Amino acid sequence: MELPFAENYRIKMVEPIYRSTREEREKWIREADYNLFNLRSEQVYVDLLTDSGTGAMSDQQWAAVMTGDESYAGSSSFFNLKDRVRQIFGFDYFLPVHQGRAAENVLFSVLVKKGNVVPGNSHFDTTKGHIEFRKAKAIDCTINEAFDTTINHPFKGNIDLEKLQLVLDSYPKEQVPMIIVTVTCNTSGGQPVSMENMRQVKQLADIYEIPVVYDSARFAENAWFIKQREEGYADKSIKEIVTEMYSYADGMTMSSKKDGIVNIGGLLAMRRKDWYDEATVYNIMYEGFLTYGGMAGRDMNALAVGLNEATEADYLEARIRQVHYLGNKLIEAGVPVQQPLGGHAVFVDARRFLPAVPKEEYVAQTLAVELYVEGGIRGVEVGTLLADRDPVTHENRYPSTEFLRLAIPRRTYTNNHMDVVAAALINIFERRDSIRHGYLIEHEAPIMRHFTVGLKKID
Ligand code: F0G
Repeated sequence: MELPFAENYRIKMVEPIYRSTREEREKWIREADYNLFNLRSEQVYVDLLTDSGTGAMSDQQWAAVMTGDESYAGSSSFFNLKDRVRQIFGFDYFLPVHQGRAAENVLFSVLVKKGNVVPGNSHFDTTKGHIEFRKAKAIDCTINEAFDTTINHPFKGNIDLEKLQLVLDSYPKEQVPMIIVTVTCNTSGGQPVSMENMRQVKQLADIYEIPVVYDSARFAENAWFIKQREEGYADKSIKEIVTEMYSYADGMTMSSKKDGIVNIGGLLAMRRKDWYDEATVYNIMYEGFLTYGGMAGRDMNALAVGLNEATEADYLEARIRQVHYLGNKLIEAGVPVQQPLGGHAVFVDARRFLPAVPKEEYVAQTLAVELYVEGGIRGVEVGTLLADRDPVTHENRYPSTEFLRLAIPRRTYTNNHMDVVAAALINIFERRDSIRHGYLIEHEAPIMRHFTVGLKKID
């Protein structure tokens, strides 16, 4: 018999989690105004709210924590991390920051001006927020296939080159400070971008003399999909694939809380000295001195190790197999999910799951609350609540997809936990016809409302 696949690590430390009763959960979610962000973590059994900062560090990372250098200037931990960034991404200029959105804030302070347009593949909400905050516009050029969950395309994170060219033809180059490629593309379902697409985007960008910046939160998972799915890459190492990916970029921002496998941190890195020189001023103002930028020395040390571990094929195989283990169980039961399955999460298509719930009643949020009550599992709505209101008309914006995202933290849960998640969701799927109503908004903030919104159940 061929031996089955298993993780390339064992567990040295565990954290107890509480299995609550349905009655407790019904009370807690009511008290939380049906907003899963308002729950206390003890009230959650399996927490799939995010894969950001929630992973388990290795013994080598914890060892690196102990040798962190907390010097204000010139810390050896900074130089460890700078060397690792140069080795993995090939960028000479590097700045640490406290998390991904801080990297966006610093780099966009240099690059993005009022009236600019920034094309990309479904920009993440903080990325879009930092563009719009500067009175510029993010233009989504993702391929159309990404928005139909039934189409099986191997690289649903790809940029549509015709859409991109149309943007580049429509605006003078002074108005387009960069093209942003998000690897993997979180918003479209943790979907990868192909190497061919990255190469073509760079070729087009060079013709129009526009720089290319990668939003790199899940860069290693993207490399894994290239190795699996793209011709010519099966025999290359993840590190070789990453080197080629970044040869087509002029710079990067990164939330290290994902593929850095640390609990907090971020970075920006680039080829261009002029960008770096300007960015240092903003880094010092917003983040901290150039050799720590809002991170502790110990965290920079752990990140240097994490970047190395995340770019090992054995680690990535275990990681993505677990996401697909959950996804495949759901697919077998007929639950509609974004296909093919992505890298960090399973995206349940809530509109197809709960067709009777009107779109005005927040379909994906309705499913998220049901899943919490059913099994103590916390996912997150990536749908109408997240899409916010139109800034001019103040009407709800209804996005083309309405997802319940189940994001899986790295090295944290076992497949037994995935079995619980699948069973709970399948139970709801079996009684889906009885769910006909969702929620009304009782109060909401003017932007980023999903974090603090209060909801009322419609009976
Ligand atoms: N870019 C992408 C693609 C992201 O997914 C995130 C965060 C960020 C930038 C911002 O990074 O949180 O460190 O400031 N995504 C998290 C998530 C929050 O749950 O998907 P950050």
